[in-house]
Amino acid sequence: MIKTHKESLDAWETNAEFWDNYMGDESNFFHCDLVRPFTESLLDVRSGELILDIACGNGNFSEKLAQLGAKVVAFDYSERMVELARKRREKAGDSIEFQQCDATELDRLLELANGRKFNKAVANMAIMDISEIEPLFKALSTTLCVGGCFVFSTHHPCFTYPNEEYFMPSTYKGVAIEGQPVLQNYYHRSMQDIFNIAFRNGFCVDGFHEVPFDGEKEPIIMIVRVRKKA
Ligand SMILES: C[S@@+](CC[C@H](N)C(=O)[O-])C[C@H]1O[C@@H](n2cnc3c(N)ncnc32)[C@H](O)[C@@H]1O
Repeated sequence: MIKTHKESLDAWETNAEFWDNYMGDESNFFHCDLVRPFTESLLDVRSGELILDIACGNGNFSEKLAQLGAKVVAFDYSERMVELARKRREKAGDSIEFQQCDATELDRLLELANGRKFNKAVANMAIMDISEIEPLFKALSTTLCVGGCFVFSTHHPCFTYPNEEYFMPSTYKGVAIEGQPVLQNYYHRSMQDIFNIAFRNGFCVDGFHEVPFDGEKEPIIMIVRVRKKA
């Protein structure tokens, strides 16, 4: 296990309440204006699909998926975050199943499916927060339907990295929301490192957006769709 993993979890436990209050029911501008439109279009949710919401935070996108007619399994590794998500999304009833699960633990990820196959999976702004991402791709290669897709948004690694060391995987401290109680860890990986993990676990890339802040000339995030090959 990456040695900063526990520190990252502790930071999210500490920041969970602040995050939930800030994101509220509807989520913030960043999510609504930059992340959601492209993610929704790449995910192309169909009524009745079973969708996995990875590192779901306070469940803001889980609720959106449920409104679109999906059955959602949503998980986060912060117990406090999951507790807050359950409370905030109470009215979604059994269309969302919230679970506490660590995305770096292969066995737990496999258990989430509970004998089912997911049609699709999504991870909004979380890949850069997860200390190790290979177990997640490995699990999805088993728990997604053949032809199923996984859409993830994350910091654009070419434009957001510390120490001018693009190729070097690294951990650095940062903030997701100004004023949060403690700094969190970010995990930088180059584009080839991220894509090669997807490729060696049986996925191909078939959708991609680079999204800037309004009026900016460089993207701040990238949104990627990978698809499980037959
Ligand atoms: C920036 S927030 C995004 C939350 C949500 N996806 C959204 O867009 O509102 C990142 C989330 O990743 C979760 N996270 C980080 N590492 C994780 C891991 N190893 N397993 C599960 N969740 C993790 C954090 O607890 C936090 O809720």
